[in-house]
Amino acid sequence: MASLTINGKTFEVDADMDTPLLWAIRENVGLTGTKYGCGIAQCGACTVHIDGTAMRSCSVLLSDAVGKQITTIEGLATNGALHKVQQAWVANDVPQCGYCQSGMIMAVAALLKDNPKPTDKDIDDTITNICRCGTFQQVREAIHAAANV
Ligand code: FES
Ligand code: FES
Repeated sequence: MASLTINGKTFEVDADMDTPLLWAIRENVGLTGTKYGCGIAQCGACTVHIDGTAMRSCSVLLSDAVGKQITTIEGLATNGALHKVQQAWVANDVPQCGYCQSGMIMAVAALLKDNPKPTDKDIDDTITNICRCGTFQQVREAIHAAANV
């Protein structure tokens, strides 16, 4: 049994300590906004924040998440207001199928916290999430829009 703090709430998770955090979030806690893509830390669909840092939850062990502050896409909005990255995503019509987008938004939110005005190179270096629909140009435009809020 592991105690996880996700989006400010505590959840008791009945799973082996070597379970990937992604599955604890999805299967045990029931927060399905965090997606499975590759399972090997390559695609970024599973990105969450752990103590404020963007991490690929498919490659984080449950044991390493205990005692940390975990934020998922469901916890990014505050007091009923969308995060500025979510607002920019809506305004710029970023998503197509949407599958990669929660991980993409979580990665971008962490980027802007650390680097409020990223250059295109900063974006290319940091946002390595894969989008099979090819929304990369819209993602870049929305990041700059969010940075200018
Ligand atoms: S599912 Fe975690 S990086 Fe692809
Ligand atoms: S919007 Fe479809 S995979 Fe990115």
